[in-house]
Amino acid sequence: MSNKTSFYLLTDTHFVSKNAWVEGKPFTLRERGDQIALKLSPEILDSFIDKILADSETDTVIFTGDNVNNGDMVSHYDFREKLERLVSAGKKVYVTTATHDYCGMDDDENFFKACRYTETGTEPAECMRKAGLFDFYEKYGPAQALSVHRESGSYIVRVGEKTRLAMINDNGNGRSHCGLFEDGFNWLREQVADAKANGDYMLFAVHHPVIAPWELYRKAVEFELYGGYKELSELMCAEKVRTVFTGHVHVQNIREYESENGGYFYDIATIAAVNAAGKMRKVTVDEENGICKVESTGIEKISGFDTGDLSARDYLYGINLPGLVEKLLPLALTDYDKFLELGEGALPVDKLKKHKFLVRFAVKKFYKMTVYTAAKLGKTKKKLTAEQKEYAKNTPLSKTAFTIFAHIFPGDAPYTPDTVENIALTAAAKRLDRLVSRFKISAVQNLIPEGSSLADMLQDFLYNNRTGSDDEIEINLN
Ligand SMILES: [Fe+2]
Ligand SMILES: [Fe+2]
Repeated sequence: MSNKTSFYLLTDTHFVSKNAWVEGKPFTLRERGDQIALKLSPEILDSFIDKILADSETDTVIFTGDNVNNGDMVSHYDFREKLERLVSAGKKVYVTTATHDYCGMDDDENFFKACRYTETGTEPAECMRKAGLFDFYEKYGPAQALSVHRESGSYIVRVGEKTRLAMINDNGNGRSHCGLFEDGFNWLREQVADAKANGDYMLFAVHHPVIAPWELYRKAVEFELYGGYKELSELMCAEKVRTVFTGHVHVQNIREYESENGGYFYDIATIAAVNAAGKMRKVTVDEENGICKVESTGIEKISGFDTGDLSARDYLYGINLPGLVEKLLPLALTDYDKFLELGEGALPVDKLKKHKFLVRFAVKKFYKMTVYTAAKLGKTKKKLTAEQKEYAKNTPLSKTAFTIFAHIFPGDAPYTPDTVENIALTAAAKRLDRLVSRFKISAVQNLIPEGSSLADMLQDFLYNNRTGSDDEIEINLN
C-alpha cells in the first residue's frame, strides 16, 4: 500500500453563474474594476476540474472559501453542480465558506448583496444567509468528518492513513472578526491533541491568512488576517502543526513563521483560481518520511472558450484592473477618448476627464523615465558599474513597474538584490524613508509596521524574499 496521500486545493473561485448576469455595461464594468475574472469563472473552474479529473492518483479536492462571488443562490446551485462533477468521478470534496458566500443582514458588516446584472443595472436576487451555508454544503465536508464544530461549521477529515486536515470555518463575519470564537478554538485544540495522541499528522486549512503575505499587510490591513492569528500561530508552533493553507488575499505566497520559543510553521497562501495567473495547489504527504510536498499548477487554455492564439493568462490579463492599466496607459497619449472609454469601471474616469493635460503630461514623463532615474533619485548612481549604468539608462522604468505589477498576485517577482532594478528602486525607497522621517509624514508612517521601512516593504514585491518560491516547497512535518 502506498504511504503517500495527495489532495488538490482551490481557493477564491468567486464563481458567478451564467444566470446571474447578461452581457451589458453593468457587469462588464463590475468585472473591469476587479482583479479577478468573473464572466469566465465557470469555464475557469471547469478547466481546473478537467485537470483534476485527469489525475487518477489524487482522490481529494478541497475548496477554502469565497466559492461564489456575491452570495447569490443561483451561483451556489451552479457551483454545487461543479462539485458534483468531481464527486461523480469518485473524488472526495471538502468545502469551507467565507464572506463572499453569503449576504449581510443589513445590521451586520457583511456588505454583499445578491443581485442579477441586467443590461441596464442590477436587480435583487435570492441570497444565501450565513446560517444556511452549513446545510447547503454539509455533504461536502461535515457529513464525512471525524469531528464537526457545528457553531462555526469547521470540521476534521482524514486525508490519508496518518494525515488529518482541519477545515476551519470562520466565526464572525470576516470583517471586524474572522477567526474562531473561544469555543471553536478549544475544539480545535482538542482535535490537534487527538491527532497527536493517535500518531497522525495534522494540517490546517482556513480562508484568511495567518501570516501577513507582505510587510504592508502587517499593519495597514491587519484586519484582513485570520481573526485570532496570534493565538493560532502559538498553537501551531507549540503543537508542531507545520502547515496552514490559506486564501483570501488572492496572492500566491509561501511564508515561514518562527516563534520566539523556537516553534515554526508555514502559511501556504494560494492565489485566487480566477486570477489571470490563477493556480491550484497539489499537496502530497509522504507519511512514512513525514514530508509535505506542495506544488502548483495553472491552466493553459480555458475549457469551452476560445482564447485564439493566447494562453489563458494572456487572455485574462488585461480584462480588469491589474493588466488593464498596462494595456490602456499608452492610449492616454494617442487616443484620450478611447483611453477613458476603455478605462471606465477600472479607472477614476471623471477625474481623468477633468485633468486631461496633467494626466498626459504625467504619463509622458512616466514613459520617459528609466531605471537610471530611480538610481539618481536614490543617489546611488555612483555605486553602479559602467555596465550597470548603461543597462539602467536603457531600461524603461515603466517596464520594471509593469513587471512588478504583474507579479503582485502570482508572486516570485524577478528583481533579486543583485539586479540593477532592485539596487535603484531600493535606494529610491530608502531616500523616501529619510524624507518621510525628516518631515514626519504621518500618512505614510502609519502604513509602516514597527521595525520596518518603505525599502523593506518594497522587497516583498521585487523578488521572493521568503522561501525562494511561492509555487513549491517541501515541509518536514516531524
Ligand atoms: Fe476572495
Ligand atoms: Fe475572502
